[in-house]
Order: sequence, then structure tokens, then C-alpha cells
Amino acid sequence: MAKINDNYLKLKAGYLFPEIARRVNAFAEANPEAKAKIIKLGIGDVTEPLPEACRKAMIKATEEMGDRSTFKGYGPEQGYAWLREKIATHDYQKRGCDIDASEIFISDGSKCDTGNILDIFGKDNKIAVTDPVYPVYVDTNVMAGNTGSANDKGEFEGLVYLPITAENNFTAELPEEKVDLIYLCFPNNPTGATASKDYLKRWVEYAKANGSIIFFDAAYEAFITDPELPHSIYEIEGAKECAIEFRSFSKNAGFTGTRCALTVVPKTLTGKASDGSEVELWKLWNRRQSTKFNGVSYIVQRGAEAVYSEEGQEQVKALVSFYLENAKIIREKLTAAGFAVYGGVNAPYVWVKAPEGLSSWDLFDKLLQVTNVVGTPGSGFGAAGEGYFRISAFNSRENVNEAMARIGEKLKV
Ligand code: MLT
Repeated sequence: MAKINDNYLKLKAGYLFPEIARRVNAFAEANPEAKAKIIKLGIGDVTEPLPEACRKAMIKATEEMGDRSTFKGYGPEQGYAWLREKIATHDYQKRGCDIDASEIFISDGSKCDTGNILDIFGKDNKIAVTDPVYPVYVDTNVMAGNTGSANDKGEFEGLVYLPITAENNFTAELPEEKVDLIYLCFPNNPTGATASKDYLKRWVEYAKANGSIIFFDAAYEAFITDPELPHSIYEIEGAKECAIEFRSFSKNAGFTGTRCALTVVPKTLTGKASDGSEVELWKLWNRRQSTKFNGVSYIVQRGAEAVYSEEGQEQVKALVSFYLENAKIIREKLTAAGFAVYGGVNAPYVWVKAPEGLSSWDLFDKLLQVTNVVGTPGSGFGAAGEGYFRISAFNSRENVNEAMARIGEKLKV
């Protein structure tokens, strides 16, 4: 019989979001009268339509695909140069980051890339994650065999957990021990916390001193409105020698279903081979992508390119502002209902303290049963998320207002 990857057996039940969907479906089946009233503020999936500039560009690209003279077959595995150049100029060089288009790899998602990146790293790395954390970082390390088993709290042996709590303003302290790989996400999923330049500078200094690589997930950078906050880790001097950055068109331009993202692997990054030699990480990632990936479709990349047009920029800004206004409403209404809330200012997630005596899943059940509103239990993001709850701002204004009205009426703390 074929042997399986035993590491999968170490994983907890299902992946967090399908598990929530399963529980919500079970509730809806058992309570058919409540089904139509359910409002989902759980998974961070966008609800507003694609920007017109992106749609128009994709329609034009579709027409090109229908004409022999403009038809495209396989594209470059790294992405089309015209998109990579726009990203390099607009997202990096304009902010003073010395990132070249050739260091940008277009992909079908940051979720995939933050998991796939492990392909080019060895097995004996010490890996640090924050707690709570986006579960993909942990689960993909478990799948890759980089951890032992989980304890009762769901913490995997071999990982270094860096707690992020209200006490440290949801920004982790530097590890006391030396770690090789570090996952950072700002604006943070799930807590909505942000990182200042000084804070990131400390991480870059740590990484350079210890020969570590930072995986910097900037999927929510478009939600930063505070001009003092960095959008990219490459705004910090020295980051090109120690950081890989992930970005996405999912949350700014509504591409969660369309799929387009990017990963920056600077050519100045190196890692150590088992014979002690230093190897360029860019070469390994390029080799990995050329072998296992055939690029994002031409049509979708044209849609992503349109984000950088004048009208695209305006439309994306409007979308982001819309979700940020939702976040503001959520913060205000939950505060008025007596909850302690965090995040949701430069981020689309609001992190809520569960009332005394209620666990994250208790609050999940109560919210679902009493108000028919779905959120995400903080404990699903890690042991230190216990007692917290995440509310996503990705929904229509009508649904956000209605969900907050129900909570204010029925769930006052
Ligand atoms: C979330 O809800 O945390 C998001 O769906 C994350 C993701 O984009 O995969």
C-alpha cells in the first residue's frame, strides 16, 4: 500500500475556515428559520465587486485570447514583465525601496506562496511564529515535517511561539533564542495590529545578526492610512538581506476569487547549503516556480495591471475605504456594547475580547445562536488567541449595520 505523509496526521481537525463553515452549515440545517438571517463576518473574504478598471482590462484580454494574432499560450512562470515592472515602480521604488522587477514573482495567492516557500528551505531550521497567527504558516510547517506533535493547547513541538497580546500591543517581543525563519504579518491577521518602522527595524537587526530570514506577509498593506507606518519591510534598511515579502491583490482589489498575488525574493538574500556554501534564495525560488508553477493567467494579470492605472487606483482606494468604514462601525458599535476592541484602524480585522468567563468558541456559539452573526474564534489562530474573537470588515454596509445592531441589542456585555 502507498505510504502517506504522516505529518498530516499531526494536524488538528480541519483547516480553521472550512471548520467554521461546517459548524455554521450544521446550525443552519438545525435552525432553518435562522438560515436566511446569518451574516458572515468570519473569513476575510471580500464581498464588493471587482473594480471596473480591472473588469474592463480582463474583458479586453479575453477578447485578445479569442484572436489568433493576439492569443497567448504559456506565459512566463514568474509573471509578465509589464505587471512586475508596474509593481516594482509603484509599490516599491516610489516608496524608496530598491526592488527590481526581476525580484518580483507573480503567483495565484499569498496563502499558497507562504506555504510553498518552505520548499526551498531545509529541515533543521528553528522557526518562529506569533501566537495568535494566520494558521497557514503553522499548518504548512507541520505538513512539511518541520514540527513534532501538538500539545493539549494545540502548540506544535519544535516551533517557537511568540505571544502577541494586549500587554505587548499585539507586537511580539524578539525571540530570546536564535531562530532561522520568522513569520511576521502586518497589518496583522488576525489582530489588526500594525508595526512601526522602529519596531520592524529591531526585527531586521535581529535577523541580520542571526542569519535569519523574515517571511513578511503584507497582504493587508493597502489598509494602512497612517502615513507614519511602513507598507513594506523593504522600507527598513538592510531588509533586502534578510526578508521575503508576500503581497496580494485579494483584499485591496477584491481578487479573492480571481487569484493574483506576488512574492518578492531579493537577489541579495542567501541561505546556507549543507556543505556550508552560501546559495542565492532567488535562484532556488525561480527554479521552484519554473518547475512547479505555470504562472497566473494572462487575463488575470491584465486585470491586476489595471490596478495601477489612474482609474484603477481611485477604485481600489474607494474599495479599501469602504471596508475601513465598516471596520470603524464595528469598532464603535462593539465598544458601545461594552466589548474591548483592538485593531480595525489600519486593518480590516477587529480583534475583540470575549466577556469574562466565555471562551472564544463559547462566544462563537453565542453570537451564532443569539444574533446569527458569524465571527472567527481567536483560539483558532493559536493558544494565546483564547478569549478573543475576530470580526472581519469584509461585508456589505447593510450586513455590517444589521450585525452590529443585533449584537448591540442582544449581546451587551
Ligand atoms: C482570513 O480570514 O484570515 C483570510 O481568509 C485569510 C486568507 O486570505 O486566506
